[in-house]
Amino acid sequence: MKKVELINLPKFLDVRGNLSFVEQNNHIPFEIKRTYWLYDVPGGESRGGHAYINNEEFIIALSGSFDVVVDDGNEKKVFQMNRSYYGLYIPKGMWREINNFSSNSFALEFGSTEYNENDYIRDYDTFLKMKHDGKI
Ligand code: TYD
Repeated sequence: MKKVELINLPKFLDVRGNLSFVEQNNHIPFEIKRTYWLYDVPGGESRGGHAYINNEEFIIALSGSFDVVVDDGNEKKVFQMNRSYYGLYIPKGMWREINNFSSNSFALEFGSTEYNENDYIRDYDTFLKMKHDGKI
């Protein structure tokens, strides 16, 4: 079973400006089916209190900062994302919330599946029950 992991991405430091990159099936441990981004998030706002049944994701703070709270049903971990050369891998079946956005933050997210509302679990008690019943 894959685990939540903060992945240190390649970076080329240069006086002209720095460069980082990601590759699917390498730094991102899945084939990318979808890319989306969160922007113009008001400072202090919170998003994404839900779990995915199948979708795996990879999140980068391209600018600004935010916290990603990942919960496996037993334990919660908080990842403070504030550097564009780190990516957070989240496997399927985890409750996750993104909060504490700084103003002007920009979150880039990659997914392993196309968008499908049926893949979401939006109720925390349902998530806990499915987790404890071994359904996710
Ligand atoms: P949602 O994932 O609920 O946002 P968050 O978890 O960050 O609060 O997405 C908000 C809306 O955007 C959702 O109702 C449908 C739409 N959406 C898509 O159409 N495609 C996508 O890939 C995503 C992520 C969202």
